[in-house]
Amino acid sequence: MQGAQVPLKGVREMKFVVEGSKALSGSIGVQGSKNSVLPILAATLLINGQSVIHNCPRLSDVDAAVKILNDFGCSVTREGDTLTVDASTVNNCHVSDYLAHRMRSSILFLGPAVARLGSAQFSFPGGCEIGLRPIDLHISSLKLLGAKIEEFCGMLSCKVDKGFKGNRIHLSFPSVGATENILLAAATADGTTVVSNAAREPEIIDLAAFLNSAGARIYGAGESTVVIVGTKKLHDVEHTVIPDRIVTATYLFSAAVTGGEIEITNTVPAHLDAVFPVLEETGCTVKRNKNRIYLKAPKRLSRVKTVRTLPYPGFPTDLQSPVTALLSVADGTSVVTENIFENRYKYISELLRLGANIRIEGRTAIIEGVEKLTGASVRATDLRGGYALIIGALAASGRTSISNIYHIDRGYESPEKVLSSLGANIKRIT
Ligand code: EPZ
Repeated sequence: MQGAQVPLKGVREMKFVVEGSKALSGSIGVQGSKNSVLPILAATLLINGQSVIHNCPRLSDVDAAVKILNDFGCSVTREGDTLTVDASTVNNCHVSDYLAHRMRSSILFLGPAVARLGSAQFSFPGGCEIGLRPIDLHISSLKLLGAKIEEFCGMLSCKVDKGFKGNRIHLSFPSVGATENILLAAATADGTTVVSNAAREPEIIDLAAFLNSAGARIYGAGESTVVIVGTKKLHDVEHTVIPDRIVTATYLFSAAVTGGEIEITNTVPAHLDAVFPVLEETGCTVKRNKNRIYLKAPKRLSRVKTVRTLPYPGFPTDLQSPVTALLSVADGTSVVTENIFENRYKYISELLRLGANIRIEGRTAIIEGVEKLTGASVRATDLRGGYALIIGALAASGRTSISNIYHIDRGYESPEKVLSSLGANIKRIT
């Protein structure tokens, strides 16, 4: 669910203003995972009853997913960080163009909607800020499960005659979204589905845990082969979303870039095993136990030879821009290669405005670390690239103003409050 590319009215004008060069210190907890809660909200469509979901972050992407559920006829209420979805009233199988465009990955609702209602119509999600984002793997997988899919005038129409039927599916690439759509479509299918080369991200495990708590039988989530034994009916469920590993890491980077010292509690350090060696190579001291991470940064970070983004458990593409911002002030030359999305470097021209020295060669960014960045007016180009500008601004001397922060609000819950609690000087202004 890649997001709110069309901002809500009025939010375009909001900005973050950051006075940089202040070392962050203190202790914070971390929000629930956006990329877990979105497919879990799609999964609630499968349940003819109530889903109670704890640890749901307040994000514009979550609001958009709730609106999609409302479109389907579900009632959704929020109390604190708990969302309760009642999908017993589902009565519509058409997602409005506006929501489909606002939420690129509204495509994740396709599998569960068709499983529940027998058919559904969606607007075709287009490309977005980070790439073309084709959905061929979603479509071919749902077809293997028995769906008839037609595409016309930018619309996708999908139906099954007597429900989805289990099958063997090999993914040519371990797509996170396609793996999730298969789990969602196959959970209540007739027969068993075996997915090979499945994505192994922690968010897949969380989705499977949610579905299994509702009575599904999914085995091997988090491994390359996942077996889904179809179950006729799912029941009411209560679930707590996992902590957000990407947000955890970006706050670690925020502290590291300022020479700070922080602790992050209620997180899952094991989800960031590919990230700690990078932080250690920069000279940071990192200690972790089961659910807590401590980081102390040196006065000046060292360069990192190479960082390559890969599917989990590799270094996450969602941290490519934050790590590039971090390395822009490291001592020496670092090389970062983006292997997942073809267009995830738009934010770099904005980092250059802060004085970074980075050049792009194909999929690779070559970062000559500078001693100091300097505040400037910049514009968020996408969610993670937007947060990368906050990292740059925290390191910069003087004032940085970041516009188009609706991108950042898709994935970070009140980052200005979290960072202020660590001593940063950051304000949201209208
Ligand atoms: C998920 O997107 C995340 N979104 C993304 O989070 C994340 O960057 C990405 O996985 C990779 O980790 C959510 O979980 C909601 P993919 P998804 O399908 O599922 C190609 C963030 O910042 N592909 O694994 O869309 C695709 O173009 C974001 O929070 C096809 O070719 O990612 C890309 O190059 C943004 N055909 C690659 O696979 C398909 O049918 C990985 O995409 C599907 C994907």
